[in-house]
Amino acid sequence: MSHKLDLTDLDRDAATSLTAQLVERFRDAIDRGELGPGEKLPTTRALAEEVGVNHLTAVRAYRRLAEEGYVTATVGRGTFVRRVPPPAAADGPGDVSWQAAVLPEAPPSYPNQVLAQSLRLPVDPDAISFAHGWPDPALYPVADLAAATREVFDELGADTLTYSEPAGVPELRELIAARGREAHFASEPEEIVVTSGARQGLDLVGRALVSPGDVVAVESPTFMGTLTSLQRTGARVVGVPVDEDGLDVAALERLLARHEVKLVALQSSSHNPTGADLSDQRRERLLALARERSFFVLDDGVYATVRYTGGERPRLRAAAPGHVIYVDSLSKTVAGGLRLGWLAAAGPARQRLLDEKLAADMHTSTLVQHVVARYLAAGHHEALLAATNPIYRERRDALLESLRRRLGDEVEVAEPRGGHHLWLRLRPEVDERLLVAECLRHGVGAIPGAAMTAEPLGQAHLRLSFSMVPLERLDEGVRRIAVALRAVRRAQRQGLVAVS
Ligand SMILES: Cc1ncc(COP(=O)(O)O)c(C=O)c1O
Repeated sequence: MSHKLDLTDLDRDAATSLTAQLVERFRDAIDRGELGPGEKLPTTRALAEEVGVNHLTAVRAYRRLAEEGYVTATVGRGTFVRRVPPPAAADGPGDVSWQAAVLPEAPPSYPNQVLAQSLRLPVDPDAISFAHGWPDPALYPVADLAAATREVFDELGADTLTYSEPAGVPELRELIAARGREAHFASEPEEIVVTSGARQGLDLVGRALVSPGDVVAVESPTFMGTLTSLQRTGARVVGVPVDEDGLDVAALERLLARHEVKLVALQSSSHNPTGADLSDQRRERLLALARERSFFVLDDGVYATVRYTGGERPRLRAAAPGHVIYVDSLSKTVAGGLRLGWLAAAGPARQRLLDEKLAADMHTSTLVQHVVARYLAAGHHEALLAATNPIYRERRDALLESLRRRLGDEVEVAEPRGGHHLWLRLRPEVDERLLVAECLRHGVGAIPGAAMTAEPLGQAHLRLSFSMVPLERLDEGVRRIAVALRAVRRAQRQGLVAVS
């Protein structure tokens, strides 16, 4: 309750209704500045209780204040005194200070901040970045893509530059569906929607299938973008642990016993960041639960073809095509800058996703879709995977070996079955954010575990991505991490910093 405002003396015998009296009091307090812009008002329940009125009276009073422009309400956050924009142009025509008052609230997202930082390219040529799980640019199929681009322009001319269908260019969807039949994520081109990277697929799923206040379960840790997209829907995003067999389905069942879950987001193979696969037993149980409890499963397969142990695994979707939405892209195998991804879905959900795609950007670049269709049709992608997987495996092994040699028991790390990352647990505890900052001072980049979890794990983790670091630089990178770790531990021992 705002204690600046005494509402206990409403006149219950007056001709004016209690709702009108409440509105009047709040309006006066806001006009007089006793309640300032952005100030949070009590919940309707707290207000009703404190004033001794019916809950509906409190709801009606806030609704009227909102209609009159005195307050704004955001689902899940509460009711706030509206911010009044200060006069513009205080500092001339370029003044932007007034924007802060009118822009919608955007709660800072640590995962998004870390993702944005990791996208800034390193400027120091001596720096070693373990922050990006992208393909190594030295392995991009530049010649194949350049040849495909020339062919497309020669054969299709102006058609390569025209607007095209929101779902994607038909030839490309045919090729993706053919790949989907082998990998079990789709059977018909009608199920496919081409997206601008898998990141857009994740975002469309959040927009199309999730409402504010829904409960969404997500692997924790997971990709920063998955967390951001789902958190932005206004849903309650609950983390479910991941172990060497992937998502802990027993933990999910405990969550399902307490909540109606709308969506479960996971990566069923080559998980980012642990490199784990969901075991067969867990796959079956998860899909049985999805059918029993009617929730959607979002299976993200961007690393599913980057394999070191056990070959490529069938995706979840074929076993439950109405429940599973599959998201994928060429970003982790060919090149992220193409921004070429796709999703596979069926039923009304697929239509909703397509509507969101149209609303977001109409369609993915026609030119890029045609180029990629040529590239895939020529069989280049399989050849690329056959050539690059052994190179990444060698880097994975070298990094594991170096970590064990230089850090021994100080790190716990599982051998990834696929993907581009190692997930390290540091022992004894250390402040991972300080460690990442110290690593940067020593010219080495890494991602702090807290950026990848829905809730704090209470343990120190780092993600190290090895795909872009040349073999001969991996050990030097680990040496720098070890030096940074010693420095942070020393500072902690001396009481200069506290473990968070
Ligand atoms: C698990 C996962 N999903 C999706 C994405 C986004 O992929 P894209 O670059 O295709 O948007 C990433 C990128 O890092 C990722 O790691």
